[in-house]
Amino acid sequence: MSDIWQQLAELRAKTSETPILSLFDDTKRFAQFSAEDGDLLLDFSKTSLDSTALNLLVQLAESVDLNGKVAAMFRGDPINTTEGRAVLHTALRARSDAPILVDGEDVLPGIRTIRNQMEQFAEAVRSGEIKTADGGRFTDVINIGIGGSDLGPAMATLALAPYHDGPRCHFVSNVDGAHIHDTLANLDPQRTLVIIASKTFTTIETMTNAETALVWLRAALGDKAADHLAAVSTAQDKTAALGIAPERVFGFENWVGGRYSLWGPVGLPILLAIGTGNFNEFLRGADAMDSHFQNAPLNENLPVLLGLVGIWHNNICEYGSRAVLPYDQHLSRLPAYLQQLDMESNGKQVAQDGSALPRASGPIVWGEPGTNGQHAFYQLIHQGTAVVPTEFLIAAEAHEPDLQHHHNLLKANCLAQSEALMRGRSKSEASEVAAARGFDGAERTRMAAHLSFPGNRPSVTIAYSKLTPFVLGQIIALYEHRVFTEGAIWGLNSFDQWGVELGKELAVALLPLVEGASTDDKDGSTSGLLSKLSQNSANQT
Ligand code: F6P
Repeated sequence: MSDIWQQLAELRAKTSETPILSLFDDTKRFAQFSAEDGDLLLDFSKTSLDSTALNLLVQLAESVDLNGKVAAMFRGDPINTTEGRAVLHTALRARSDAPILVDGEDVLPGIRTIRNQMEQFAEAVRSGEIKTADGGRFTDVINIGIGGSDLGPAMATLALAPYHDGPRCHFVSNVDGAHIHDTLANLDPQRTLVIIASKTFTTIETMTNAETALVWLRAALGDKAADHLAAVSTAQDKTAALGIAPERVFGFENWVGGRYSLWGPVGLPILLAIGTGNFNEFLRGADAMDSHFQNAPLNENLPVLLGLVGIWHNNICEYGSRAVLPYDQHLSRLPAYLQQLDMESNGKQVAQDGSALPRASGPIVWGEPGTNGQHAFYQLIHQGTAVVPTEFLIAAEAHEPDLQHHHNLLKANCLAQSEALMRGRSKSEASEVAAARGFDGAERTRMAAHLSFPGNRPSVTIAYSKLTPFVLGQIIALYEHRVFTEGAIWGLNSFDQWGVELGKELAVALLPLVEGASTDDKDGSTSGLLSKLSQNSANQT
């Protein structure tokens, strides 16, 4: 395997001067460096990969037995080795009845029972059969959760806005009181259902926001507040302690990681917003991608190819970040969602066996929807000193048929950006532009330097017919399996998140100090900031 890494590095050194644009002298390049699954197209032809590099990357995947690892995940093996757990978010959307065994027991019947319970609850809320305390209809839902209990449903609910025909959904995650305050300020407790979503039911942000929401409900509804509550959690003893009726608690097992949980009960807000038929389409899209990931040959397999492009850019070209740029306003929360999915999964420094990783693992993932980003940070992507591989997402068809001109402009901008990144503007072209703008002599030369773009900047484009529930399911599963592919090649555990622990512990220890207790146990910066922050609150009171 180290031999393959070596060969890839040598190849990169040999080919790095070849402009990506010149690779299109081969008229078959687009066909050879793109792949399709159903309605989804992955174009990775605007990268510096050539067929030798791609073959080596496929060999790399083979050398870690990627297919074997994929099979182990779908089978329910305990591949999350630091927590001793299976990883079975895929079972939440499995359509086949073939048993999936955890500790000798098939998990599918339990998943389907809970799904039925969720569907019945959601449809009864949507139809008005489940009533508010005063016998009315729920018009609004607040989902209180954070991380995986927020980002997935918030992202998908927004993505599927054209399919909404249920109550309006709001999401409160931050412990900053402003978040819940500003959300509650615009809502009527008599009409609002509150879902408390927390896998563990111990997360301080969620528990604090839940308490505040409960006080708000109780003030309006008295002892009928529980009629306006539901919970999503693996910790059913803790939900009972909050007085939430067992039939309104939707449980899931510890083999579903938080950031992979939107396919099950954590997806309740999505189900409430779009209804059972559309939610099932969403699951069907993900299941279709699961089949593709398990069965397509590695060199035609979309998640594998997306992962290999990621490895090429991160480890071989040494580009330390990647930008996700959806040219789809409904996907505006996708970058935030992918930050957790990708960075919480693959932001690791040791291999499964605890040894230090020999090379970079997860890159920094960031982004914003296009075209907004064009008027903000694209300057750096085009002319900055760091090369940022970009990932564009764009639909052939929008949901606003009366605004076709908008969508044409969106498509033109998306294609223009990936072309401009690749093509750039040479010094001589820039000199002509400078001359046309009236510069001559030394000024023309100086301006040409500012007006030229290096080009040769890689991008991939994910194009799809229309952002339907099915296609959204495909896209999210594509990214989940890309994370899996990259994690498998790096040899790390993509399914734990120990790095978030220490900050949580220190916050608990700091709370009494923030509230006025004194200590000489802190570093100078923390003590200085504590003193400044307590002065500010003293000034306000
Ligand atoms: O702090 C990280 C984390 O554990 C995430 O992995 C998880 O999605 C989030 O917190 C919320 O956890 P819970 O659903 O248990 O409240």
